[in-house]
Amino acid sequence: MANVTEKRPGKPGDVERRGFLKLATGAGAGLLVLRSGALGAEAPNNKLNVAFIGTWGRASAHFGAVANENVVALCDINEKHMEGPAKRWPKAKTYVDWRKCLDQKDINAVICSTTDHTHAFVANWAMNRDMHCYCEKPLANTVEEARVVRANWLKRRDKVATQVGTQRHEIDNFNRVAELIRDGAIGELSQAHAWGNRQIRRKGYPPAESEPPPYLHYDLWIGPVPFHPYNPEYFRGGEGANCLQWNMYWDFGSGQIGDMGSHTMDLVWNAIDPVLPTTAQAESYPFGSQQAGNEKGKPAEPIPPHPEVTPVELHSQFDMPANNWRPAIKVNWWQGGMMPRTPRGYVDLNRIDHGAMFKGKNGFLVCDFGSRILLPFGDADDMTYYKPRTKEQLQPRVAGFQREWIEACKDPAKKKTHCDFDYSGTMIETMLLGLVAYRAGKKITYDPAKGVVTDVPEANAFLSKKYREGWTLNG
Ligand SMILES: NC(=O)c1ccc[n+]([C@@H]2O[C@H](COP(=O)([O-])OP(=O)(O)OC[C@H]3O[C@@H](n4cnc5c(N)ncnc54)[C@H](O)[C@@H]3O)[C@@H](O)[C@H]2O)c1
Repeated sequence: MANVTEKRPGKPGDVERRGFLKLATGAGAGLLVLRSGALGAEAPNNKLNVAFIGTWGRASAHFGAVANENVVALCDINEKHMEGPAKRWPKAKTYVDWRKCLDQKDINAVICSTTDHTHAFVANWAMNRDMHCYCEKPLANTVEEARVVRANWLKRRDKVATQVGTQRHEIDNFNRVAELIRDGAIGELSQAHAWGNRQIRRKGYPPAESEPPPYLHYDLWIGPVPFHPYNPEYFRGGEGANCLQWNMYWDFGSGQIGDMGSHTMDLVWNAIDPVLPTTAQAESYPFGSQQAGNEKGKPAEPIPPHPEVTPVELHSQFDMPANNWRPAIKVNWWQGGMMPRTPRGYVDLNRIDHGAMFKGKNGFLVCDFGSRILLPFGDADDMTYYKPRTKEQLQPRVAGFQREWIEACKDPAKKKTHCDFDYSGTMIETMLLGLVAYRAGKKITYDPAKGVVTDVPEANAFLSKKYREGWTLNG
């Protein structure tokens, strides 16, 4: 496993946070506030030469963002999906194999919107050619992929700009939640929870059915993972939602962890200043059972791992070490109807499809992507200990999530992105460790520096996977 020991680089907003902490502890004189919109200031005149790997579906959400750049390459395993973009950018060269596309010498920035099982590959190959990379979430499909891609970026962070496609991060509520937690609105933090209720049930890989159409390069779609026969089912989804046709199969995705989990855990990640966890454990109980968090449900047997399909219901928990402003905490991910207990009966967490909850010594904070509620309670719930920020002290708004990356590409040493491959890499590594523990059937102890499970040797087999011949993760 890759050995990732480098310290995380500064992130946009770090200065403001540190400055405010000083103020909150009575040493306010030195408060340093960055000019609002400092990240969004003057862009150099030079244009990026952009390659789209994946040109349909989610990719089209990025077309507008590059309207002022040069699009010089388009790559899709489905030739029909390149027709529209090729009309829009007639000078762009077209490819069906992303490895060949990345040989094109004038490319300096890559936007990858392919299947999850190719993200870490494209990201590594792009960075190895000094190309900036915006990669759709999730950044990786295995713990090893997450570590390799993160280590790779940490070596190049001053020359290559990266961003993972968790664009909800630009919603101001992310900043407000983080400020409330950091500034102690609920007192000393002890737990964080994120959840999502999406349920997509499948029995196993679909059986062989018909031949792929001539314009669809199916073997390239399979790419690095073991071959599964063609079935049109993998391609029947609507534009931007086709990922729900394949992301629940182990070889192609990580189910709701890589899907909505990437967005929703981001609410927690942004607020807790995380590092990698030292333990992981996970369980799966049927939707509606007592163990799924429904107190009225019937007791049920746990659901064992399925060899082909990732779990629908899952609760994973991680021990997250202390940092310089909070103690060690428990971080939890819940999905498919498994839910944390509500802090008060009148708050129905089940009404929040994708949300997060933080527990502190003096109460709770519950939120979704766009709003939040505080529930102070306990002996010290008067909130006199908490001082709200002034407008000037608020963390600056993310001035356009894709734009932030484009500006960072033009000046990577100075301009940072919020969801770079370090921030997002540690998040997906952690979430994927939950799946490792689930498959191992045991709580695991993890050595974050070495990237190995130290107490359940058989769990190490689930940290990585074997690729098909001819495919290299870090080529
Ligand atoms: N950030 C978000 O809110 C958001 C929303 C939807 C999807 N996504 C992510 O975007 C990615 C794509 O999702 P989608 O629903 O558009 O999927 P999709 O199956 O429609 O694939 C998108 C495009 O990529 C092409 N493609 C697939 N594998 C390829 C490969 N190896 N090389 C070149 N082209 C390839 C497909 O033919 C298609 O044109 C997923 O990883 C998903 O998680 C993110």
